[in-house]
Amino acid sequence: MCMMCNMLIMSNHAVRNPPAPGSAGRLVLLCGGVSEEHEVSLASARSVLNSLPLGSAVLPLVIARDGSVLEERSSRELLGLARQQAASTGPTAPASASPASSLDGKLALTIADALSTLDLSPDDVVFPLLHGPYGEDGSVQGVLRVMRLAYVGSGVLASAVGMDKLTMKSVFAAYGLPQVSYRGITEGDYRRDPSEALASVRELGWPLFVKPANLGSSLGIERVADEAALLGAVERALTLDRRVIVESALVGVRELEVAVLGNDEPALSPVGEVRYGSTFYDYHSKYSEGGAELLIPAPVSPEVEGRARALARRAFEAIDAAGLARVDLFYDEAKGELLVNEINTMPGFTATSMYPRLWEAAGVSYPDLVERLLALARQRR
Ligand SMILES: Nc1ncnc2c1ncn2[C@@H]1O[C@H](COP(=O)(O)OP(=O)(O)O)[C@@H](O)[C@H]1O
Ligand SMILES: [Mg+2]
Repeated sequence: MCMMCNMLIMSNHAVRNPPAPGSAGRLVLLCGGVSEEHEVSLASARSVLNSLPLGSAVLPLVIARDGSVLEERSSRELLGLARQQAASTGPTAPASASPASSLDGKLALTIADALSTLDLSPDDVVFPLLHGPYGEDGSVQGVLRVMRLAYVGSGVLASAVGMDKLTMKSVFAAYGLPQVSYRGITEGDYRRDPSEALASVRELGWPLFVKPANLGSSLGIERVADEAALLGAVERALTLDRRVIVESALVGVRELEVAVLGNDEPALSPVGEVRYGSTFYDYHSKYSEGGAELLIPAPVSPEVEGRARALARRAFEAIDAAGLARVDLFYDEAKGELLVNEINTMPGFTATSMYPRLWEAAGVSYPDLVERLLALARQRR
């Protein structure tokens, strides 16, 4: 056992159930990260830490915005863990030797370095509670995979496919899932001949949604209603990604969400709905207090609920997801039509996020949900 193992923190939150037999491994909570969803990830990590039963061995590893791994004391402070919770007075910092000043090649190195000091066993589980690029997109999952560690959630393939809206939609199309009409634009095509690159987009009509292929939390997404706005939005999206997706904008649709939990035979939650006051479910409505209302269960007929859940399961299978995912759908009530919008392989995981709340509605408490995810990770390994 290496010295670094002493840095495990024994959580001493309110006593709930003792750790279940067979789940005695340690939990490494990877959180923060370099994406714009850094803070969301930290909020999710705090919720997980607060849910753990007494005696849980948990090590939070906060990845700073620059990709370096924070020293343990800073990690604990950021996550609101009391100092006295540290299990040992020994050397406790999994800090990177020198904080990375840029991302290039350093993120994987620092995470791998930090993990390799922990001497992790097959019972230990890493929870990559990271959202967006360099966290939810298969890159960190690749590091965990080559290190042969058990980890929560989807593997490299599903994470990457779920993150890339263009590839995700191609895969969904191959699975016959109903979706909005869309076109892809690559930076190369656009730079060569903008007019030609946009020719196929014009077939979609107006209004349109323009999105960078790989982001999240509605970042970089614009709704446009004419040619001039389209050009500006595509230009801006191309500064965020080499590939851009343009979709027909649905008008007057409702937004439903389904939580999926499991590996090969996943369970489906009740259906939830999000409502907001803004033009679309943008960053502000997602993360500001009172920005959106979550309705659980969604006020829809049992028939619509059944279809939504069936589509969610199919979307999960289409990308070969594992552990958890949240599938988001558009519901056109007038037409009775359901369309799959996207799958999120690491959905928001704070105690008040849609994913855990959907499971709570199904009778699975937040602590039980965490325990199940760890068991699923071990099972998959
Ligand atoms: N084609 C569309 N028609 C209508 N609204 C859309 C469309 N695409 C996206 N939106 C709105 O934008 C939000 C964010 O888009 P989404 O593709 O889910 O991106 P993200 O992965 O960032 O959440 C959606 O929840 C919805 O409110
Ligand atoms: Mg979304």
